[in-house]
Amino acid sequence: MSLLVTRGLVKHFGDTHAVDRVDFTVREREVLALIGSNGAGKTTLVNLISGLLRPDGGRIVFQDRDVTHLSVHGRIEAGIARSFQLVNLFDRLSMLDNVALAIFSRQGKTRKLMALADADRAVWEEAIEILRLFGLEAKARVPAAGLSQGERKLLDVAVAYALRPKLLFLDEPTSGVSTREKAPIMDTITSVVRREGISAAIIEHDMDVVFNYSDRIVAMHQGAILADGTPAEIRVNEAVAINLLGTTHA
Ligand SMILES: Nc1ncnc2c1ncn2[C@@H]1O[C@H](COP(=O)(O)OP(=O)(O)O)[C@@H](O)[C@H]1O
Ligand SMILES: [Mg+2]
Repeated sequence: MSLLVTRGLVKHFGDTHAVDRVDFTVREREVLALIGSNGAGKTTLVNLISGLLRPDGGRIVFQDRDVTHLSVHGRIEAGIARSFQLVNLFDRLSMLDNVALAIFSRQGKTRKLMALADADRAVWEEAIEILRLFGLEAKARVPAAGLSQGERKLLDVAVAYALRPKLLFLDEPTSGVSTREKAPIMDTITSVVRREGISAAIIEHDMDVVFNYSDRIVAMHQGAILADGTPAEIRVNEAVAINLLGTTHA
């Protein structure tokens, strides 16, 4: 069943057709990879779906509900989250505090209430549980600034996950980390997503990661969807080979 559907979604920046009549679908309980060379429109599509940008045309339907005109917060409440939105990493705060802040914001509380956090055992327990899910609990008290790039990337995902989404958009969760660190990060993310029965849509440039971890791949090119299929189908798709492979590694 479809979790998210866009119909004829359009976003222009002047003469640039960044997203050009896109019909995009995310199904329930799937790990979807969104690929495409730089400027293909991937981030704009995610910005439209998460509410950061207003479309020039088209509709966004999430769980059979039209969310096209909902605020960012309204979409988070509906169950759409992304890795770097609403709450970013606060470098001087511990991992635990970063996750707790996301839980507070989900509950509609502001940062001013942080002082009350110590009194709120349930939040700390939930935050620890989330860090445990992501294999980060050993460093719960370490400030975000003191983490490796791989740990920061995972914490960023954990923070988005703390919003309890049904659909989690991740914009390049393995960018900037060593090749060695990529598999453990993707193993962790996909095991959480599958265990919780949610869906993830992951913008990713590393084709090994894309082919190894996704159930389905959507390829964008010049604002439009070029191909949509299983990893096996996309591997042999001629349009993808001509337009994307080779350039996506850049
Ligand atoms: N805020 C903006 N203002 C003007 N042009 C933009 C803006 N955001 C994106 N674009 C343009 O829209 C196109 C798609 O960009 P983007 O969605 O960032 O692609 P991708 O994430 O696939 O690299 C590009 O041509 C980009 O230059
Ligand atoms: Mg982008």
